[in-house]
Amino acid sequence: MKFQWFWMYAATLLACYIFVNKVLRNLNDWYYDLKLRKRQYPLPPGDMGWPLIGNLWPFFKYFSSGRRDMFINNIFLRYGRTGIYKTHLYGSPSIIVTTPDMCKKVLTDEETFKMGYPKAFILILAPNRILSEHGRLKRLVAAPIAGHNVSVMYLECIKDIVINKLEELSNMRRPIEFLNEMSKAGKKLDKIVQYIIDERRVKAKNRQIGEKNDLLDILFEIKDKGAEKFEDKDIIDVLVSFLFGGHDSIAASIMWTIMHLTQDPLCLKKAKEEQEEIMKARPSSQKRLSNEEIKNMVYLSQVVDETLRYRSTFSTFREATIDVNINGYFIPKGWKVLVWLSAMHMAPEHYSNPEEYNPSRWDDYNPATGSFLPFGIGRRLCPGRDLARYEMTIFLHYFVLNYRLELINPECPLTSLPFRKPVDNCLAKVIKLSDS
Ligand code: HEM
Repeated sequence: MKFQWFWMYAATLLACYIFVNKVLRNLNDWYYDLKLRKRQYPLPPGDMGWPLIGNLWPFFKYFSSGRRDMFINNIFLRYGRTGIYKTHLYGSPSIIVTTPDMCKKVLTDEETFKMGYPKAFILILAPNRILSEHGRLKRLVAAPIAGHNVSVMYLECIKDIVINKLEELSNMRRPIEFLNEMSKAGKKLDKIVQYIIDERRVKAKNRQIGEKNDLLDILFEIKDKGAEKFEDKDIIDVLVSFLFGGHDSIAASIMWTIMHLTQDPLCLKKAKEEQEEIMKARPSSQKRLSNEEIKNMVYLSQVVDETLRYRSTFSTFREATIDVNINGYFIPKGWKVLVWLSAMHMAPEHYSNPEEYNPSRWDDYNPATGSFLPFGIGRRLCPGRDLARYEMTIFLHYFVLNYRLELINPECPLTSLPFRKPVDNCLAKVIKLSDS
């Protein structure tokens, strides 16, 4: 009798195993294969995961434990380096692209691929994501924070915030969460927005025709003359939302750079030597950092590039507006397309020894088109990219010269949710070294 029970249990277990692994596990794949049976091209390799949840479980498993690259690396291992894969994430059937040519195509072909962040992603991971479709307003807001304008308009203001923030942090007796402090420093910029608005309004009234405009001048011009009517409040909202767009990314980028420098004495030494050279060459009449000096910070700009490569956001999201064929594979209309930026930035064919943080790799190195996209590309190219680089450079200048970071938990585990960071938010002490 006992023997019979044993076989019954074993048979039930086997049936469950077969049902779960061979039927339930493939249900999503069969469903989409059947639904798209009339397609002319095959779907890319990959798997659609479990019914309802798709591949969310492995995604959260790897991302919450800070091993986010394992998610995509497992896909490479299972399906080879085709550079295009099907999956199911955040409740949507999706395609992942990982090669420079395909990533570039998806990001620059705005007719075929529109902005497509899944609702669940925005709710959980990026509540401040700016998804506005108001192209004109965005272009207007973006103009003054791009290129040469950044250095002309914001140098003094950024310098003051950085100097005061570092002083404040080094005066704190207890360890601080460095990441959160960086984020607070960014928020200080918001508080001065109203002040700048008031000041600019006065200036705008007295401006000569043809005189250079900054952001607020332009917005006030529209407000006063244009068909689109804005209130002060609308203008502040637009500005603050732009500033929010950069808070976490700049704060995290500064934190990572300083952590890398702290953990790599050779990089820190090189960065520090460059800054000391700059200080030595400074005329005695000049008291503060100048734009000319910033342009000469060759190694520091490589440090910034290396952090942007090594710690970039994992993906941007698009949605196919029509059925489309890429490299012989079918992307159905309505599917999400994940442009997996970090896979490109960690691809050995573009970056030798990609797991190594090595700013010197940028010596005379021009990445192949589309293989370095920390700020995206195309119409959605990050409007804050110049400001971000600028803020990072100024912060690093003052930091490497005058301060050092003492990590409380150097081996602290990482998470990638909502974005990549140590779980203790980089608990550390900021130690002041000198006053130069
Ligand atoms: C290290 C810092 C930063 C990184 C790595 C970064 C990265 C990115 C990336 C990859 C995109 C493209 C998203 C896409 O294609 O879907 C983007 C868009 C955007 N970024 Fe940044 N960003 C940074 C800083 C900033 C700053 C400082 C601002 C604002 C001043 C900003 C404002 C925006 C806005 C408004 C968009 C949306 C553009 C659009 O939809 O047309 N970002 N950013």
